[in-house]
Amino acid sequence: MEERKVLFSAIQPSGILTIGNYLGALRNFKKLQNDYDSIFSVADLHTLTVRQDPAVLRKNVYELAALYLACGIDPQKSILFVQSHVSAHAELTWILNTICYPGELSRMTQFKEKSKSHEDNINMGLMDYPVLMASDILLYQTDIVPVGADQKQHLELSRDIAIRFNNRFGDVFKVPDGYIPKTAARVMSLQEPSKKMSKSDANFNAFISMDDDPDTVRRKFKRAVTDSDNRIIFSEDKPGISNLLTIYSAVCDKTIEDAEKEFENCGYGDFKSKVGDAVAAVIEPIRQEKNKLLASKDYLDYVLKDGAYKAEKIAYKTLFKVYKKVGLVPRKR
Ligand code: TYM
Repeated sequence: MEERKVLFSAIQPSGILTIGNYLGALRNFKKLQNDYDSIFSVADLHTLTVRQDPAVLRKNVYELAALYLACGIDPQKSILFVQSHVSAHAELTWILNTICYPGELSRMTQFKEKSKSHEDNINMGLMDYPVLMASDILLYQTDIVPVGADQKQHLELSRDIAIRFNNRFGDVFKVPDGYIPKTAARVMSLQEPSKKMSKSDANFNAFISMDDDPDTVRRKFKRAVTDSDNRIIFSEDKPGISNLLTIYSAVCDKTIEDAEKEFENCGYGDFKSKVGDAVAAVIEPIRQEKNKLLASKDYLDYVLKDGAYKAEKIAYKTLFKVYKKVGLVPRKR
């Protein structure tokens, strides 16, 4: 039988996720887990690069684990685990740090943006973030990495690091490919559609949180920024309308063209309320399921424990190969 390809992806538990995270990443995981040996992680170590309240972070780890499951990740099919539970991630990062250079890390767009938004805390971790991400991916001999468009640059760096290591020490890592969805790879802010939708936006009307109830979802869409020409078409000079069409077509699994046709004779007010209804219909059952799962901590702990156990086995195999290649003496057992 042909061996299945390996899929890896991770999300930071840095607060309630948005429909950007859902449409750009999470939603696709459910389908892909049927075709790949899939591994999903709660990237808690990444989150520490920005100051966190420890109690809130602990809560967010469970929130994200529950959300993964509520979005259809099936622990019978996929591995779901918390990054810090598998210490190989931090260990491989150390080794890979020795073949990465400050120049290539300080050039990363996300580093530059986060250095601006967290001027008082430009720590080493913030710069090293993509090396930890490369370790996440490379430990599992990953074939594909489904992510939103904002992670493309980090993915390319992961590929460069894999190739560099293999060239220097001999083949160890598989060189991964990105998997960026055709629609909704970059969901934009509802208030400033030139900006990516982000949960850290100070304006709550700019994003739809996966925790918003249906009324809040509808209200936020009603307030979404549009333009003044009243045509519902996808076009570069209509970023607000194009973003709403993207969101609508993604949640309804329709093409943009079909969505345009559907709203041909519709006014903006009506259009926005239909988008709100469609999004609310998709995220409300997820929100309720997530809250149900959060009430069964023992189950979540069981899933995460089992996931870490399975992930660790794969990760250590790669890590020990790496240690051997670079010349570290294996510990005798
Ligand atoms: P994070 O936690 O910021 O986002 C999780 C996923 O959501 C996607 N995403 C979006 N997609 C469409 N539109 C948006 N507005 C939007 N905002 C976010 C992201 O592209 C991502 O797929 N560094 C990663 C987490 C990570 C990781 C990894 C990912 C750690 N290790 C290894 C893949 C492989 C991050 O911060 O994503």
